[in-house]
Amino acid sequence: MFDGLTAKECLLRGVRLVGPSALSPPAVTLEPHHALLDIAFHDFQRNGASVDVVHHALDDPSPLLLSEERAVPGRAAFSRVWERNRLAHMVSLAPATAEGGAHGVPCHEVAPRIAVVPGDGVGREVVPEGIKVIRALGLSFDFEELPWGCEHYERTGRMMPEYALSTLAGYDAIYLGAIGWPTVPDHISLWECLLPIRKTFEQYVNLRPVRLLPGIRCPLAGRGPADIDMLFVRENTEGEYSGTGGRVHVGTEAELAVEVPVFTRRAIERCARYAFGRAQERSGRLVSVTKSNASRCSYVLWDEVVGGVARDYPEVQVERVHVDAMAARMVLRPDTIDVVVASNLFADILTDLGAALQGSLGLAASGNLSLGGAGPSMFEPVHGSAPDIAGQGRANPVGAVWAGALMLRHLGYDAEAGRVEHAIETVCAEGRVLTGDLGGTATTAEVGDALVGALR
Ligand code: IPM
Ligand code: MN
Repeated sequence: MFDGLTAKECLLRGVRLVGPSALSPPAVTLEPHHALLDIAFHDFQRNGASVDVVHHALDDPSPLLLSEERAVPGRAAFSRVWERNRLAHMVSLAPATAEGGAHGVPCHEVAPRIAVVPGDGVGREVVPEGIKVIRALGLSFDFEELPWGCEHYERTGRMMPEYALSTLAGYDAIYLGAIGWPTVPDHISLWECLLPIRKTFEQYVNLRPVRLLPGIRCPLAGRGPADIDMLFVRENTEGEYSGTGGRVHVGTEAELAVEVPVFTRRAIERCARYAFGRAQERSGRLVSVTKSNASRCSYVLWDEVVGGVARDYPEVQVERVHVDAMAARMVLRPDTIDVVVASNLFADILTDLGAALQGSLGLAASGNLSLGGAGPSMFEPVHGSAPDIAGQGRANPVGAVWAGALMLRHLGYDAEAGRVEHAIETVCAEGRVLTGDLGGTATTAEVGDALVGALR
């Protein structure tokens, strides 16, 4: 049925094809466009030929014929990828776990393929440290770097190529540094890269641990690690980030802009369910952040949906707290907060406050979890590209390394995730090798090396 489409057409349509009957049952999904780009990016990695290979594949006007004998182009490489996908998909037919959707299922038989998007500024400095630590665990992950971001924009007019989302869809996870640079307006760089990834792959939970580590000074007087241990579950696909809106009468006195927050029962509910599940595993306490006193519609729906989910978790004690009061509570009584569920914008703001409570924005990590199988999940530090210190080797890599630990856990490598988190705790507790944001003088790479040294 896809005969007659060119490789590029397949790619742009994101078609998924079911493999030949020899590979079934059960039905195995093969994704030819991934295969093409797989070839391209392997070559990019190995001999820098990617641009040619990609263009060759994309410009090939011949229809893509999908049988093992007649795969076009690059039969040898195609078969290799074909085989690899077959294995990966067979392994991922196992049921989803709490943290993992189809893409989060352990694929130990096949080395996970990680799309690495270092992005801009210090993103490029901290991501290599995360990779260094994961490699030091003895894991043979396949890290493939995709050179997207603001420099790509300056060169090509796009933050990422038009087939970027199709390419990313073929990976087991995405490891991202930071997106944004002063040469590109933020609303462009983010709406053409980070936010489409979160939305397209329905990474509907943004998971952000807020933990004060031993050895790190808390900005709150008299508070220590026992007081600050929260888990934020941020709705990550809609709310104030819906992208709905517009401007009219641009440049005139009558200029008008509207930006409409969108809240849907479906998105609130799936995010709330995840949060209740995590609360159940932890203390059984959940705070739902709202603003249903001022809002007449969106946060009223939020409260109703969270209240409905609560009935399925009678053992979880859920508290409804307005966002303004929550900001104060995080400062005054952080010890009373465990799992928190909040909308996209509220949790964006509150987790920066959380990062401050952790002692530095450079320590905070996040995982954008695609739990319904819509695509890979993405792991990134909470901090941005930090143009003020970029290029100096001074950025704190701990947030990125911690995000790497979240990625390991999501992919089913629990023990390894624990080892990385333990190394982070050790290095912070010792306090000898820390970057400037934590009062130290170490470089980014020195902290990475110390983390490797602290792995047990
Ligand atoms: C974050 C960031 C992003 C967000 C920006 C860069 C769009 O602040 O991940 O918290 O607001 O989600
Ligand atoms: Mn933020």
